[in-house]
Amino acid sequence: MLSDQHEEARRQLGPAVYDYYAAGSGEEVTVGEAEAAWRTFRLRPRVLYDVSAVDVGVELLGDRLVTPFVVAPMAFHGLAHPDGECATFAGSGAAGALGVLSTRSSRRIEDVAAAATAPWWFQAYGMRDRRLTHGLTRRAAEAGASAVVLTVDTPYVGRKGRVSGTRIQVPDDEFLVNLAQHLLPGTVGREAAEQDPSLTTAVIGELAEVSGLPVLVKGVLRGDEARRCVEAGAAGVIVSNHGGRQLDRAVPSALALREVVEAVGDRVPVLADGGIRSGTDALVALALGASAVLVGRPVLWALASGGAAAVTAALDGLTADLTHVLAVAGAASVDQLDPSMVVGGRPGR
Ligand code: FNR
Repeated sequence: MLSDQHEEARRQLGPAVYDYYAAGSGEEVTVGEAEAAWRTFRLRPRVLYDVSAVDVGVELLGDRLVTPFVVAPMAFHGLAHPDGECATFAGSGAAGALGVLSTRSSRRIEDVAAAATAPWWFQAYGMRDRRLTHGLTRRAAEAGASAVVLTVDTPYVGRKGRVSGTRIQVPDDEFLVNLAQHLLPGTVGREAAEQDPSLTTAVIGELAEVSGLPVLVKGVLRGDEARRCVEAGAAGVIVSNHGGRQLDRAVPSALALREVVEAVGDRVPVLADGGIRSGTDALVALALGASAVLVGRPVLWALASGGAAAVTAALDGLTADLTHVLAVAGAASVDQLDPSMVVGGRPGR
């Protein structure tokens, strides 16, 4: 199913948009390793437990969710579908999946909030003009976001060789759809909205105060860095290398997850993303201690291939797959998974 949607999306999207979505940074080592790294773990199943009824639901910062699959924040869904994020969030909500709305969305925060039928979080960057970040997170809180995801792996946008020849142009009215109302007269929109490369952990508390919401930090790949973030007030950590789009040769999330769980997993939820493509990938992540997993590109492929209904089908398919493999591994719920169920793990290609 996911691979059919991927092929259909490749046909539907022109090569420039397809490459923009698919690309990794540098030599694409990290993007190339992500999926395979999950597959280098091996499972140690439990036997003779009642798995006649399996519940894959999870509790996340106070929300009860029927599935641990979460839509990762990704820029500009309008390049994949005319309804952009409104279609994505209608589709993911119908599958009961929490969605994270990117700061760089093609549709207004308030319009996406109106289309969303499941809990959603807002992804923020610390922008050079911090008033933009504050304005956006406040608006997201007012529109119903239940948490802020602060992405911290992007002091500068990663260089993606694959797209340099066919640069996509996002028109100003789409690029600035959420920002325009916060721009002061005389500011140059796109520059003020760039990521601020001078950010420190102080921004975590700043955003918590401005939004009144829990702040999860996305883009952490080390236990010691996760601890720094939690000590600065992070309510959760997302193990991620930005889908291989930032620091090429960064460690795969699959291999960083255990260390981060060991460092902070008893204090805050730890989520993971990058290359999650099946129920078994999610099972490995959940067994290693993730509270939920985010799915990126497959959601864009679904959106491009068939709009909201295809997004629902993709996420429902992942949830059904996870339900099945959980049962076959001998667990009736996510709570019954623990790190003893997995061995191995190495970079994979
Ligand atoms: C992203 N990602 C991302 N992350 C973020 O915090 N803010 C953003 O605006 C974006 N934009 C974005 C655009 C595109 C086209 C992609 C593919 C990714 C990263 C995303 O949230 C997530 O970390 C990865 O995509 C997860 O990896 P997979 O599932 O795509 O392998």
